[in-house]
Amino acid sequence: MSVLGVGRSAGTPTESVSVPSTLAWAAADLTTFGAMDRLLAETQARFGATVSVAVLSAGRGLRGSLLTSDPDTWRELLEINYLSLMGQMRAVAQDMVRNAAEHPVQDLVVIGSTVGRQVSAMNPIYGSTKFAAHSLVESLRQEICSHNIRVSLVEPGFVRSGFQRAASYDPAWFDALESESGPFLRPDDVAATIGFLVAQPPHVHLDDVRIRPTRQKV
Ligand SMILES: NC(=O)c1ccc[n+]([C@@H]2O[C@H](COP(=O)([O-])OP(=O)(O)OC[C@H]3O[C@@H](n4cnc5c(N)ncnc54)[C@H](OP(=O)(O)O)[C@@H]3O)[C@@H](O)[C@H]2O)c1
Repeated sequence: MSVLGVGRSAGTPTESVSVPSTLAWAAADLTTFGAMDRLLAETQARFGATVSVAVLSAGRGLRGSLLTSDPDTWRELLEINYLSLMGQMRAVAQDMVRNAAEHPVQDLVVIGSTVGRQVSAMNPIYGSTKFAAHSLVESLRQEICSHNIRVSLVEPGFVRSGFQRAASYDPAWFDALESESGPFLRPDDVAATIGFLVAQPPHVHLDDVRIRPTRQKV
């Protein structure tokens, strides 16, 4: 399997670096209109095949509630977690529908969150973007499942990653939380779940998976 990873880099869309393997990297600001279309075209050009598995994971958190968070940060959160996600889902879905005859099954996996299913008083702004992801995934699933495209939602609980810094979490608070209800998940735990999901036979769709640290209560 060939994999194209995507991250952001100084506002330069689709500026790629070469690596001598089937893992490659492209930089793109996914909030930029058309970024996903360019990445899909770049993937096809680089690997000589259309994309049959896409994992839409780019996102960020936001500390605080409606009352305690900084309203100046809301727009940026909505741009990446919501508007950009819609654009990415649309671009990938259109591409997959176009190429459906080439693959027995295709997978579009969206990373949601436990707070997109269970309301959290601690995290309502971020949570609302993940409720939106939850809704978009199921509606797109219904729209394109007849093309043998599996649109799936993976909803992690606490994962120790770059997320906490990007969301301005207090490291001491997060460490204390992990002591109480961890060990928290690692990105590999989520990746292994996605691997299991996409490895299912074409007629089986595990469409909605919640993965939490064993000791996480809510
Ligand atoms: N960590 C958790 O506890 C947790 C729990 C539930 C759900 N999630 C969700 O899991 C997903 C991945 O989060 P993570 O834990 O892996 O956090 P992370 O380590 O901060 O990774 C977030 C990724 O999103 C990318 N990104 C952000 N804005 C972007 C943009 N405008 N264009 C392109 N890429 C962008 C970042 O790239 P750069 O670093 O290059 O900016 C980074 O690679 C997110 O959707 C998050 O909401 C996380």
